[in-house]
Amino acid sequence: MNREDFKILDTNLIYFDNGATTLKPVQVVDSIVDYYTNYTANAHRGDYDNSLKVDMMYEGVRDKVKKLINSEKTSEIIFTAGTTDSLNRIVFGFMKNKLKSNDEVLITKAEHASNILPWLELEKEIGIVVKYIPLTNDNTVSTENVKNSITENTKVISIAQVTNVLGDTRPIEDIGKICKENNIYFVVDGAQSVPHMKIDVNKSNIDFLAFSAHKMLGPTGVGVLYGKYELLDELKPTIVGGGMNSLFESDGLVEYKKLPTRLEAGTPNIAGVIGLGRAIDYLLDIGMDKIHDYEIELKHYLLKRLEEVPNIEIYNKNIEGATVAFNLEGVFAQDTAVYLNHYHICVRAGNHCAKILKDELHVKNTCRISFYLYNTKEEIDKLIDVLKRSKDIFKIVL
Ligand code: ALA
Repeated sequence: MNREDFKILDTNLIYFDNGATTLKPVQVVDSIVDYYTNYTANAHRGDYDNSLKVDMMYEGVRDKVKKLINSEKTSEIIFTAGTTDSLNRIVFGFMKNKLKSNDEVLITKAEHASNILPWLELEKEIGIVVKYIPLTNDNTVSTENVKNSITENTKVISIAQVTNVLGDTRPIEDIGKICKENNIYFVVDGAQSVPHMKIDVNKSNIDFLAFSAHKMLGPTGVGVLYGKYELLDELKPTIVGGGMNSLFESDGLVEYKKLPTRLEAGTPNIAGVIGLGRAIDYLLDIGMDKIHDYEIELKHYLLKRLEEVPNIEIYNKNIEGATVAFNLEGVFAQDTAVYLNHYHICVRAGNHCAKILKDELHVKNTCRISFYLYNTKEEIDKLIDVLKRSKDIFKIVL
């Protein structure tokens, strides 16, 4: 849908790497060009027309995010550099001061690096214990396994709502309920879910949510940290400087501003935030349910057509989601990606920054097709034609 808005698709490119980043519609690009061309000014600092317009545009995006994730207050929305930045702030700005030695944090082996490495660092720093919720035979998370993993020391559950390799959707509403009943902080990595489906932080009892603009039609270098107000209010700024303080004196007296400004030191990524706002408008105009349903339809179609391709192994056949992870038998994943590139088909190959998923999947590298709203069944047909001819792969790759 809406392919005419994505100029890059006027070439014969087939873009199936949306889990890594998405294409940008002209409306998003124009909103950024408009800021830089017609009303450049800093935010929260000026008293002239353009600076007031910037404040209005920038703060207006908080409202759009609030609507997108159904948070209670705009002050619960912090603009960051992206999911990784948001998760690091949660771990080092909040959890580091809340947790103590032997407190347990539950994650899974299917998480992306940015939801594992900060926890492992904190384990080294203060002696928390990182534990892995066992995955089911399909490599998904069941509420049963979550319940069975909880001990009296469990203080945090931190998981992706949708994983980046297999694309499975975790039952976050049920897990949120379990967290509430057991007094456990619930952290959700929304990088691969917020762009593709409706999310409701209240309904799912999410304490902290992290996501990135660039995976949802927006620009790179900008993302969101959502936190329940009373928790965010206790999150220590990991970056301090201009804009976030209300006073400082030579004798060391310092006062910081209230949320959300307290957590946005320095000149923010104004153009990025404006671009994110335009991307949210764009997605909500189409409707998140419509996008989600369309992607599932594409996945079913792809799975059906992949039955015609000999010597292919698919790792997430039984999982409803917008990705397909596969390998051609006897072919290194990267070689398959290079082969597909020869036909202008973009997929990602490798471990996809989920480096310990191999313990569960028993394969280190895969090729990943990840869809978004502008992909089509015709593109899938072209992919299938190319994959069917893959016996020639080494003539092309070598
Ligand atoms: N997390 C991104 C991906 O899955 C970078 O490709």
